[in-house]
Amino acid sequence: MKHETVETNAGLLIILTLAVISVGGLVEIVPLFYINDTIEDVEGVRPYTPLEQRGRDIYVREGCYTCHSQMIRPFRDEMLRYGHYSLAAESQFDHPFQWGSKRTGPDLARVGGKYSNEWQVQHLIDPRSVVPESIMPGYPWLIENDLKYSDIQARLRALRRVGVPYSLNDEEYQANVERFGEEAARWLDINRAEENLVAQARAGNYDGNPSRITEMDALVAYLQVLGTMVDFTQYDDGYFVQFR
Ligand code: HEC
Repeated sequence: MKHETVETNAGLLIILTLAVISVGGLVEIVPLFYINDTIEDVEGVRPYTPLEQRGRDIYVREGCYTCHSQMIRPFRDEMLRYGHYSLAAESQFDHPFQWGSKRTGPDLARVGGKYSNEWQVQHLIDPRSVVPESIMPGYPWLIENDLKYSDIQARLRALRRVGVPYSLNDEEYQANVERFGEEAARWLDINRAEENLVAQARAGNYDGNPSRITEMDALVAYLQVLGTMVDFTQYDDGYFVQFR
């Protein structure tokens, strides 16, 4: 068949166009039916605590994703630099996920624990004071701004709506105890969100100032948990292959 035949025959063009588009559609849609088999079965991944979640909101608000990805790809060079490649399981509770596609700065998927809290605070206030050649902008207001958290319950309820297992009632709480363990379940209780947030900020003292809870406390708490939930020494290399 000549191409001209297709281009001059509207009915034929429509049918062939639909055929081509439906192949593309199937390629996008079919994997969704198998999504539960492709999320790796690993221990330790839990939703963020209220403080970490507020830190994540600030990360999004400040547009950190415009320069930082959070997805280590399964290539040798990336794994040598950043650590084990990212698992689907590790971002299953992220709404929206922060995989990103722009790396002006390094990938942050496993930055948790890489630096001290003091380093993170200093770097965020003035990046060039710790990395002289850095082109990252400073975010000095994070240490000035008190963290707003009066709406934390509503934020967690919204995430619960889209499937993140924060608990509202006793039944959900018990399910979380079974799924994540007693300690994590307590962090995920929406009814105790505010007191949990304050308790974690006080105990962690991420910004170095115990008398206030600032936006810096939340952001550093979030950065310090990134990529730390899965203990990769528990799994050998072949284990994840079955989920591909
Ligand atoms: C204009 C691009 C840009 C933006 C926006 C940006 N960064 Fe960066 N970031 C960089 C660059 C470049 C580096 C590498 C140099 C350095 O360490 O400062 C970096 C490094 C980092 C590091 C150290 C990573 C490592 O493994 O050494 C962290 C943590 C970080 N940024 C967090 C943030 C956070 C949080 C935000 C948002 C509040 C942010 N960045 C916004 C460009 C950016």
